[in-house]
Amino acid sequence: MKNSEITQGIHYVGVNDRHKHIFENLWPLPYGVSYNSYIIVDEKIALIDTVEVDFFQQFLNNVRSVIGDRPIDYIIVNHVEPDHSGSLALIKKYYPEAKIVGNKKTFDMVRGYYHVGESADEIVEVNNGDTLSLGQHELQFTMIPMVHWPETMVTLDTTTNVLFSGDAFGCFGALSGAFIDSEMNCDIFWSEMQRYYSNIVGKYGVPVQQALKKLAGVQIDYICSTHGPVWHEHISRVIAEYNRMSLYQTEPGLVICYGSMYGNTEQGAEVIARAASIAGVKNIVMHDVSRSNHSYILSDVFKYKGLVLGAPTYNNGLYPPMETLLSELAARGIKNHLLGVFGSFTWAGQTVKKILEWNDSKLKFELVGTPAEIKQSLNADSTEACEALGKAMAEALLKN
Ligand code: FEO
Repeated sequence: MKNSEITQGIHYVGVNDRHKHIFENLWPLPYGVSYNSYIIVDEKIALIDTVEVDFFQQFLNNVRSVIGDRPIDYIIVNHVEPDHSGSLALIKKYYPEAKIVGNKKTFDMVRGYYHVGESADEIVEVNNGDTLSLGQHELQFTMIPMVHWPETMVTLDTTTNVLFSGDAFGCFGALSGAFIDSEMNCDIFWSEMQRYYSNIVGKYGVPVQQALKKLAGVQIDYICSTHGPVWHEHISRVIAEYNRMSLYQTEPGLVICYGSMYGNTEQGAEVIARAASIAGVKNIVMHDVSRSNHSYILSDVFKYKGLVLGAPTYNNGLYPPMETLLSELAARGIKNHLLGVFGSFTWAGQTVKKILEWNDSKLKFELVGTPAEIKQSLNADSTEACEALGKAMAEALLKN
């Protein structure tokens, strides 16, 4: 690989995955994803994270094109999730003398996954604040547990002010030619960052805030994340985006998520949306919970403050895709949202009751308006109830 240098002996040796359709076998990848790895060439050579194992041969070629026949001295494992550690056992076969650098939790995981790092002479165990000298480059390690696993740490090159940040500040989207933000059009990466954060890291807002506090005041000229562009030109925006998302801060918009078997519940959603629009809400996104991949629903819910949920009663309970969505929302601990509820039924309504139970026990969003119920199909009363709900949501959103 040519022209791999980011700055002062630090090289990009990552790969792009344009094959995988769904990340973690869950989340769509319309633009692919990159697994970023970096190598620091100094008196000692340090590799920082590896890549998903399917891409090992390309990864090895990238490494060799930078260091030629020189050995790797250290393999720093900032994060053990296999999209980054998957090539660890193989790279150790090519560089058996390389010592694995990680913390106590790192070694528990890499031994379990790959049976490497089992003897004391092949590891360097570090704690928060510890340093490692490569010659010119001085590295410092900071633990950032739960961003996104318990073992996660970041590595700061204090000589060059380069932060190797693991998943933090990452995003979906493969890298098309360039790997530094200042050399590419970043448009797709902002929305893919919102989706990546909400899908993958969204549960861990508090740990992200703690990590941001640990890094506050640190001079950072490059952020080398494990996914997406190397951030240089847009560092302040990237940190602001992660701060906003981890604080669950939202914009005044409305997401209407509905399930509908024969179109009647969907008609209720249309009435709610129209009423909210007439009352002045401009950002309105509608999702059919059976059609929209929930990855995109979660991303929009993280973005907008208002949420309306509605579905038909199904087997005297919740419509299954709506129940799935509710569990996905609850798992992320989303805060600071307004909730409106509606439902439909043919002979006995359960949806409104069940969604309110989810809200009382798990979501704890602020309930807005009066839940609207549709029996069989919209009539004058249920149309009025849906209009009132849309209007109440609009008033609450525009007041905030
Ligand atoms: Fe990209 Fe948590 O792994």
